[in-house]
Amino acid sequence: MVRQVTCTAPVNIAVIKYWGKRDTSLILPTNSSLSVTLSQDDLHSRTTVGIAPEWSNESDRMWLNGTESAIATNARLVNCLKMSRAQRKALEDADSGLPRWSQWGIRIVSENNFPTAAGLASSASGYACLVYTLAQVFELPLTGADLSRNARLGSGSACRSIFGGFVGWDMGQSPTGDDSQAYQVAPETHWPDLEALILVVSDLKKGVSSTAGMQTTVETSSLAQHRFQAIVPKRMRQMEQAILAKDFDTFAEITMRDSNQFHATCLDTFPPIFYLNDTSRLIIQVVTAINCLSGRTQAAYTFDAGPNAVIYAPKAHMPYLIQLFAYFFPGSAGSGYFSDSYQCLPEGTVLGK
Ligand code: DP6
Repeated sequence: MVRQVTCTAPVNIAVIKYWGKRDTSLILPTNSSLSVTLSQDDLHSRTTVGIAPEWSNESDRMWLNGTESAIATNARLVNCLKMSRAQRKALEDADSGLPRWSQWGIRIVSENNFPTAAGLASSASGYACLVYTLAQVFELPLTGADLSRNARLGSGSACRSIFGGFVGWDMGQSPTGDDSQAYQVAPETHWPDLEALILVVSDLKKGVSSTAGMQTTVETSSLAQHRFQAIVPKRMRQMEQAILAKDFDTFAEITMRDSNQFHATCLDTFPPIFYLNDTSRLIIQVVTAINCLSGRTQAAYTFDAGPNAVIYAPKAHMPYLIQLFAYFFPGSAGSGYFSDSYQCLPEGTVLGK
């Protein structure tokens, strides 16, 4: 007898970046962060969780993108399964009439419809989907905040993919993580005019994982310490206001500044970490040039722990932006054409305000 549930969960792309943990096992961050959850119609994880009494005497098993992947050696996966089982067991202890699903074996099949670990937030949608599907299969009566804390045990950014729309992650103060969870700033219906365009510069797995990279940053970068204390708290407030007011100029400026500062802390890490490549930097220059040349903010770029860009822009600007990027980047990443195209920008272009 197998009880089985399948769910999907969306990707989120941060506009104020999470980069650093104060507790690496509970995944408690050194700063609050804020993201936009993308539509599930595009990038998503899809996870099926099955539980069965006949699997109780064997280890839990998981297949990721078609390949079996060990659970026992993955502390985060173990923590998510432990937490969901404990939440189910608490229900069973309180009501002896409930089936003892917490004792059944678990099998998980999960896939992403986009490159895994290439800086496209696969761990965010993956763990959000896992804890949500576990909650469904175990019939756990959890709130969004509860689910968010469960997802955080898998991957920090996953706690934000539990909600749609514009989502903050309050870093919290408690050493137990009870107050470190995501909240919805505004729902997905709030700003339908805002769209995201993903420019896949490379779909290769990143060289330095977010998990390893951010801890080296916390240990070695003085710029990061300044960012945690003096920059992010103020930026969170400004960004929430900009979103509520649908103020694209402010949203765009904070998004680009925050991406720049996150990558600056990577450079300030010792040894330094490089996620952007020449194509990424060219994308930054193209966006900066069109914003400056047109005299208004047409688009904002942001980059996570990889070279791929996410461009946020009002819907009306997208057809033009897509044409522009297709013009500058017609071939595959790394082709010599990019630098030639770049020469086409008008001479004397001022890059930056
Ligand atoms: C640059 O959530 O992947 O995308 O908590 O160690 O799993 P872990 O890290 P992860 O880091 C995401 C970093 C980021 C910024 C962000 O999404 O806020």
